Amino acid sequence: MKRIGVLTSGGDGPGLNACIRAVTRQALKQGAEVMGVRWGYQGLVQNDMQLLNSRDVGGIMGRGGTFLGTARCPEFQDIKVRRTAIRHLNQNGVEGLVVIGGNGSLTGGLKLHEMGFPVVGIPASIDNDISNTDIAVGVDTALNTILDAIDKIKDTASSHKRAFLIEVMGRDAGYLALQSGLAGGAEMILVPEREGPALETIGEQVVDSYMRGKGYCIIIIAEGWKPGTQKVTEYLRSRKEDLGFDVRVTVLGHLQRGGRPSVFDRTMGTRMGSVATEALLNGESGVMVGLQGNQLQLVSLEDAVSQLKPLDPRLLELSEIMD
Ligand code: ADP
Ligand code: F6P
Repeated sequence: MKRIGVLTSGGDGPGLNACIRAVTRQALKQGAEVMGVRWGYQGLVQNDMQLLNSRDVGGIMGRGGTFLGTARCPEFQDIKVRRTAIRHLNQNGVEGLVVIGGNGSLTGGLKLHEMGFPVVGIPASIDNDISNTDIAVGVDTALNTILDAIDKIKDTASSHKRAFLIEVMGRDAGYLALQSGLAGGAEMILVPEREGPALETIGEQVVDSYMRGKGYCIIIIAEGWKPGTQKVTEYLRSRKEDLGFDVRVTVLGHLQRGGRPSVFDRTMGTRMGSVATEALLNGESGVMVGLQGNQLQLVSLEDAVSQLKPLDPRLLELSEIMD
């Protein structure tokens, strides 16, 4: 291949710039040119791409977000729109594409591969819901951001003897909630992968924490958990008299996606970007780079996106012992 493309798609996250930099420099090293596609799949559809040189990707690794821009482009699910995208890639002499993104973006990449256009994926989503990789780029930084918030909230929670509901991102996955709750010493962690507990049980556990003499009660709620943060808040507030703790709520929101990437995300982005590019230039397609143990492997894109990555049941058990 003489020229490849690279794009970031879906929700942004820390470490994407390290991926783009690595793809660009690895390709240039191997004698191939790189087209940076702006705004994810939207840029393919609108023919918004430009050649990148080594200097273009200098000094970006320490910055959060993505220097190419990203977007959600629902119309990409339409095969006619994808044909337009492939036509633009061909017109620009792009012979293969590195797709950096989450489950949806990698599904889009798989569709291009199935239409005969070579694609290699890099898992990048703070949700860590992509199968066949231990971790995705962006997760480590997001977790540290959440942990920092939990630590800060604990300061104020203990000063006032309050219960705090802290809602974290993750879409339909509870990974961020479970890991941050474990590391943050939460009294309770509510994730969509495990049904319940009933609102009454949550209330009893708050009372129990109070009776055991705890100075605060931290409940981490994954945004995908049902019946949701609002319902728990209303229920606990309705039991104001017997709860012991006053209740406050913090929804962490998009600050979880921003910030300087951690050492781990910069390194993982660099490693995955490099391996993905080598694979694409060696003729691979329909695969994703996955971390398994400490080794980067090429795994099938189809397997990676066909089901959500399950939570480790041992960590769920551990979180219950540690309350
Ligand atoms: P993420 O990649 O972070 O999971 P989304 O699920 O929003 O984010 O997906 C990002 C983009 O990937 C979508 O806006 C769309 O352009 C593309 N995409 C998602 N699902 C599909 C699909 N089934 N077919 C083609 N493209 C898709
Ligand atoms: O997939 C990453 C993610 O941050 C999810 O955790 C969250 O549900 C979603 O994206 C939010 O998307 P948006 O930025 O479009 O509001």
